Order: sequence, then structure tokens, then C-alpha cells
Amino acid sequence: MKAAIAIAALGFASGAFAGQNAMLGLPPAPTPPAPAAVVALGEKLFSDRRLSFNGTMSCAMCHVATQGLTSNEVATSVGMEGKSLRRNAPTLWNVAYEKTLFRDGRETTLETQVWSPILSPDEMAAPSVGWTLARIASLPEYPALFARAFAGQGVSMNSVGAAIAAYERTLLKANSRFDRWKFGGQDTLSAQERAGYALFVGKGGCAQCHTIGETSALFSDGAFHDTGIGYRRAGGGPAEIEIRLADGQATRRTRAQLQSITGAPANDLGRFEVTQNPADRWAYKTPSLRNVALTAPYMHDGSLGALEQVVDYYDAGGFESPNKSPFIRPLGLTAAQKAALVAFLKTLTGE
Ligand code: HEC
Ligand code: HEC
Repeated sequence: MKAAIAIAALGFASGAFAGQNAMLGLPPAPTPPAPAAVVALGEKLFSDRRLSFNGTMSCAMCHVATQGLTSNEVATSVGMEGKSLRRNAPTLWNVAYEKTLFRDGRETTLETQVWSPILSPDEMAAPSVGWTLARIASLPEYPALFARAFAGQGVSMNSVGAAIAAYERTLLKANSRFDRWKFGGQDTLSAQERAGYALFVGKGGCAQCHTIGETSALFSDGAFHDTGIGYRRAGGGPAEIEIRLADGQATRRTRAQLQSITGAPANDLGRFEVTQNPADRWAYKTPSLRNVALTAPYMHDGSLGALEQVVDYYDAGGFESPNKSPFIRPLGLTAAQKAALVAFLKTLTGE
């Protein structure tokens, strides 16, 4: 709603927005589509490294198009001059449907979210909003593109946010094999994948949080839960951690060895940082599982490298944490059932 108002204020006609959606499995788009000139401008800004202080970082460097719109090779993002961020970059596929943004839900619209990474000293490190607007206005190609996309508005905090947000809303991916089976009535899943689905909505309890609707599925309740991952990260975790070096190669290091290299993990209390409610400590936003086969590594800290590890983690009942959700409890799955769940998750890759 807020986004719609911001767009209306920028003065481009939303036209007759019927709310229809072409993609099987997704609900109607929550926001009217923006004009092509706005989307194209947003796409250009999204991958323009000149928006960062030293000209090295863009949105697209952490949300990589060929890596599921996340970064597959690092657990937590690497930003300005190699600085490590404390969290894993979420995918931007279907971000148009997120009710809140960031792992802790601290932002509410894509238009305003844009400014966090641009201004963060560890990410794009722009010294100020004014600096960024002046930098964009000084680049030869932009004034004309802004004039075309936002008549009479020029390069402003609103128009930069609206352009990048408009582009992000076009990053849709659905019509997966799962969607064609569940919502299209087609015979696109194997027996093993259907068994995985039955576990997902049944014994596994996964759909309690990764929700599936009658006519569409976002695989997220949009809420915040403690799965034990945050508490494990905070120091309750295993004494040894597996580090993936390359495909099929891994090594183990003790927590102390790791911290001598990386420093102690950054303090991260999840949703609590936004609400200050003690019950929200170590609670993180339920991520959508659409396209999850493409978006490794997993969880807010990127601590689980493969879907098999995620399923093992849930099967074991999660790491014991003071606020852990009652839905996360030992599942007692057999090896075949765990394989079926993983096979099901791999059917969620859209087009
Ligand atoms: C240095 C890496 C990096 C850069 C550069 C970066 N991001 Fe991100 N992005 C992240 C990380 C890490 C998070 C999660 C942070 C958190 O939850 O606190 C994130 C979260 C987001 C989210 C929230 C998604 C969700 O599902 O909640 C959006 C939207 C987003 N970024 C868009 C952008 C845009 C637009 C830009 C450029 C203006 C950008 N990012 C630049 C790493 C990066
Ligand atoms: C209590 C709610 C809840 C239940 C039940 C639940 N999840 Fe999750 N799931 C979450 C939350 C919250 C996260 C993010 C945790 C984090 O960021 O640290 C998550 C993360 C994931 C991820 C990683 C996604 C990513 O992009 O990082 C996968 C895969 C996943 N869950 C699969 C499952 C499966 C399979 C089940 C059932 C066995 C399940 N979940 C049960 C809430 C839940």
C-alpha cells in the first residue's frame, strides 16, 4: 500500500491494474507494474558500480544474476574493500511479495530499502544521500534516462528508490514443476517428489511456516521464528564447523581456530533488534523456498551449505535455543524420507 502511494506520488499512471498474474503458482502482484522506462532505469542502477563510493560495488555484485540473485560462494556477504557482513544475502527472486524486508524485517518497502546498502559503510559506502544523487546526476547518460522515466522529477531520493524497486518487482520466478502439478493439474512430479511433498505438509511440519495456499504458494508466512540457527551462531554452536572449499571438498576447523581468522561472529539478535521484545531474540523471517535449489548457502548466516544439511538440521530438531519454535522438534525421518524431502525442494525451481 505504501509503495503504491509512493508510486502514485511520483506521477506515473498505474493504468487499469487488474491484479492478474501470468505466473502459475504466484498470487496476483501486490503492486501495479511500472512503465518500461522506469524498470530499465532501475535495472541499470542495480548493476552500476559507480553508485558506490570507490566505484567497486553494485547491488548486482551480492545479488548475482547467475547465482540465484544471491551469492552462492560465500556464507555471509563480502562488501566494500572485502569487509564481511554478518548475514547471508537473500535471493531477490519474488521479492515483490515480501511483506517486510531484511532477515529481521526492519524495512517495509523496496523503495526505501534501496538506501540501506547504498549508505552502509560495509556495502556501497556512499557518504550521504546527497553525494549519491550528485554522483548519479554527474554521469552523462542518467539525466536523460531520469527525465524519460520520471517526467519533471529528476534524480531524487524518491526516483532512485522507485526505479530500483520497479526493477526488483520484475524479478519473478514461478511456474515450477511443483506449480504445474499442484496448481496446474499436470503430472510433473515423480513418486519420490510427491512423497516429499506429503512429508513437507505432513510429518515434517514444514508448511506450518513455509505456507502453501489453495491457488498459489509463497512458501513463507512472512513471520519470524527462532529455528535455533541464530542461537547456535551466537556461540551455542558445535565446537567444530565444516568449511566447504570447493564442490565435494570440505575441511573441519574448531570454532576457536576459525575465530582467530575471522574474529568472533558479529552479534546478531534477529527480529529483537527491531522490536526489542525478548521473545523475538534469534527470530528470523521465514524465507520463501521458491528456487531454493539455486540459492545456497542457507539460513540468515549461510551456515548450512546444502539442502541435505538443512533437512538433517530440521530432522534432528534444530539447535536447542531459549526461544525455539515448538514446530521445530525431532522428526525421526528415515534416510529415504530425507531424500524425498530434498527431491521435493528441488521441484520448486521456477522459470
Ligand atoms: C555487500 C553485499 C550487498 C550489496 C552490495 C547489496 N546487498 Fe542487498 N542484501 C545483502 C545482505 C547481506 C542482505 C540481508 C541483510 C539483512 O538481512 O540484514 C540483503 C538484503 C536485501 C534485500 C531484502 C530481501 C528480503 O527478502 O528481505 C533487498 C530487497 C536487497 N538486499 C536489495 C539490494 C539492492 C537494491 C542493492 C543495491 C542498492 C543491494 N541489495 C546491495 C547484501 C548486499
Ligand atoms: C517454525 C517455522 C518453520 C518450520 C516449521 C520450518 N521452517 Fe524452514 N525456515 C524457517 C525460518 C525462520 C528460516 C530462516 C532461518 C534463518 O534465517 O536462520 C527457515 C529456513 C529454511 C531453509 C533455508 C532457506 C534459505 O533460503 O536460506 C530451508 C531450505 C527450509 N527452511 C526448509 C524447511 C523444511 C524442509 C522444513 C520441514 C522439515 C522447514 N523448513 C520447517 C521457518 C521454519
